[in-house]
Amino acid sequence: MRADSVEASSYFVTRNWYVGAMSSELGDKPLGRMICGRRIAFFRDPDGRAQAVAATCPHRGADLARGRVVGDSVECPFHGLRFNGSGVCTRIPSQDAEAPIPRALRVASYAVIEKAGFVWIWPEPNDAPTCEPELPEFLSYGAPWRLTCLPSGSLSAGSYLNAMENALDDAHLAFVHQATVPGASERVAPFKITTDTDRRGYGGVAEMASVVAESPAVADVATGSSVMDLLGRFAMENLKPTHKAYSYRLSGLVCITTTDASGPRDHTFAFFTPSDADHTYLFGGVARNHSLNPVADWLFKRYMPALTAEDSKILGELVPEAQGPGGLPNPFVIRADRQSFPFRRLYADALAAEGKTAPWALEGSAASDG
Ligand code: FES
Ligand SMILES: [Fe+2]
Repeated sequence: MRADSVEASSYFVTRNWYVGAMSSELGDKPLGRMICGRRIAFFRDPDGRAQAVAATCPHRGADLARGRVVGDSVECPFHGLRFNGSGVCTRIPSQDAEAPIPRALRVASYAVIEKAGFVWIWPEPNDAPTCEPELPEFLSYGAPWRLTCLPSGSLSAGSYLNAMENALDDAHLAFVHQATVPGASERVAPFKITTDTDRRGYGGVAEMASVVAESPAVADVATGSSVMDLLGRFAMENLKPTHKAYSYRLSGLVCITTTDASGPRDHTFAFFTPSDADHTYLFGGVARNHSLNPVADWLFKRYMPALTAEDSKILGELVPEAQGPGGLPNPFVIRADRQSFPFRRLYADALAAEGKTAPWALEGSAASDG
């Protein structure tokens, strides 16, 4: 399904900052992304500022993201109409340059902020943001921390709900990630869940002794190739984690923090951004104070896509009725879901604040497994 515009945006929180692109993805060409069911064209103006406008040309519906950037505008590939970052039409090449351009000929524009290597978008058209993007502190840590990000966002199968809950779900590791998290425990230890005071996120922590004995960032980077195994052993320091904590924020951030006796050692994170009803973007990275070498960077850039490809495969192969924006209607909730299920409650509250109804049954589901 490639649901579009108004209908799809009704089940996403849209008055919110999401990562729309990595800074490095915005060069001299427009970049097309479907975000919260809205087709967006990102581009850079001559001052280097990131801009975002609705990508559907109001003339005959060509995709502006397939056009080119000319001066402060993006040019439609069909008849050459140009629109600037405010969405105003700046040129109709088929008429005299002096002829007036109708004021109603415009596209929606979106607020964009570029920070810490990420391009954030407020995917509500022609709207004034009410806050700044939330940047986790670890994005700006100095030495001895090292930040490695995947160079671009990747579009994966899975509704935003399914993708987020999957990222917070340890019970699938032993089954879905046998190649990338070898030896993961089937058992999931109880997490103590704490809701953030602003009710825009929550987190949990588990003692490593009683749970999965590895974290994705520090696991033996085995991807089935002995060369990779050798490189992994060479490049990755062998940590002895004592705690594993995760946190989730409405910004789409899911972060897993590994701590050993000396304190926090790495924050493995992904920003998830809703695309359409059953696809989600992922922008991943790791901030760490160990394995500070370029080989570890290279391995991480191979490892995280391999891990997330396994998630995309299982989520894309769910039965059709489970793939919609609300996941399986009335899912049976087991004990291990206590880690991921609080996501629904906060997300439903955020939707309600925008006058939207969560596309899933919540109370009925909670009846499963006390
Ligand atoms: S469709 Fe865009 S200019 Fe005609
Ligand atoms: Fe996974």
